[in-house]
Amino acid sequence: MTRTLDRSRLERLLREEELRFQADHPRSLELFQRARQSMQAGVPMLWMVRWAGTCPLFVQEAHGVHFTDVDGRTYLDFCLGDTGAMTGHSPEATVRAVCEQASKGITLMLPTEDALWVGEELQRRFGLKYWQFTLTATDANRFAIRMARHITGRPRILVFNYCYHGSVDETFISLDEDGVPGPRRGNLGPPVNPLDTTKVIEFNDIPALETSLLAGDVAAVLAEPVMTNIGIIHPDPGFHKTMREITRRTGTLLIIDETHTLCTGPGGYTGQYGLQPDFLTCGKPLAGGIPIGVYGFTEAVAEAFWAKLEWEDADVGGIGGTLAGNALSIAAMRATLQNVLTPEFYERSQLLADRYEEGVVKVIQEYELPWIVKRLGFRVEYWFRAAPPRNGGEANAAVDSQLDRFMHLWALNRGILMTPFHNMALVTADASEADVDHHTQVFQEAVKALFG
Ligand SMILES: Cc1ncc(COP(=O)(O)O)c(C=O)c1O
Repeated sequence: MTRTLDRSRLERLLREEELRFQADHPRSLELFQRARQSMQAGVPMLWMVRWAGTCPLFVQEAHGVHFTDVDGRTYLDFCLGDTGAMTGHSPEATVRAVCEQASKGITLMLPTEDALWVGEELQRRFGLKYWQFTLTATDANRFAIRMARHITGRPRILVFNYCYHGSVDETFISLDEDGVPGPRRGNLGPPVNPLDTTKVIEFNDIPALETSLLAGDVAAVLAEPVMTNIGIIHPDPGFHKTMREITRRTGTLLIIDETHTLCTGPGGYTGQYGLQPDFLTCGKPLAGGIPIGVYGFTEAVAEAFWAKLEWEDADVGGIGGTLAGNALSIAAMRATLQNVLTPEFYERSQLLADRYEEGVVKVIQEYELPWIVKRLGFRVEYWFRAAPPRNGGEANAAVDSQLDRFMHLWALNRGILMTPFHNMALVTADASEADVDHHTQVFQEAVKALFG
């Protein structure tokens, strides 16, 4: 027997959880009211209006995988700044390096010796020869795209349906239910129609990839090695090998975005599975939460780029950032790579994620729910559908915002912060077995309230 969800019950439960949230967070609510006087919608960044609950929690302080809010409540944080704090909050080695560097100069527009160590370490982890720094993964993607267009002289890029690579104009395109491409819903003030800059196809669709690239107008494919932002979607066996073969044959560059897939291992999915991209982009946790983005590329890319670069124009060509490569971010990245994002960190995180996954699967089986759990490294996620999707279109069709919101709020009200907009947890080394079991229990209680 497969259970079905009673929507009126869900609505009632959601209302109850909303009231509980309000009763438990008077101080956050008070600050939120005040914040509305100086910040649009009362939040520092617009997407924060979408947090479950009446307002976002205002944070007092955070350490490891826990934080305390201004109402004195403590939370287990499985969101970890949506990967920005994947290291755990304020890792000791990073904090020490930041304090030391901050007292010796923060930004100079000149390199420090730490940059060399970092460049060599990125080379070792990801296998690409040359590295450049930005402050965000978004900028890393933007600059890789610009380089690819400059090298190939081709106008377009190709992305996969329902991808997310930061606020990169070219990527806000999607396929409708009939497979027709157009601006993605919610695309705010686009400079041009993304159809002019971008082709979009479904992930795992090799025939569409081949047809799209044979036209010879695509500078680069920009892809996560495993899709993560519409939920985890794994590549079919052989997908990456074939994509690489087609991109090479058609003279298209391949940009692999490891910003979220860094949870696979110290060298991301690329290091773990031996991918051979022309560019690799990353950001978020590399400096323990201090702003940083990186993009790496091969020797062949570097040569082709230099051959087309006018030295006098190197500072005005659309690749920039006054604070990029600043001494503080670089020192933080060195300390984080050296001491925090180590093989041991990954091993312990994987074991905890195993435990988390087993707990959730057991509850799903106990209640015979048509739900599944998806996994990438120590990223674990439950989905309200019976079979894994093969692409973004299928995944998007299964999004249940109301149920998502309920599961988030239920967890939040019981001391657990999940990653917003899907039910994803980064189960990292600083968590304890008891933390993981606490989640299993809270998840089980949510399921019981919905279906029991
Ligand atoms: C795969 C991927 N790339 C890039 C980014 C952009 O990161 P940021 O917003 O830190 O620039 C994100 C953000 O979620 C992402 O998921």
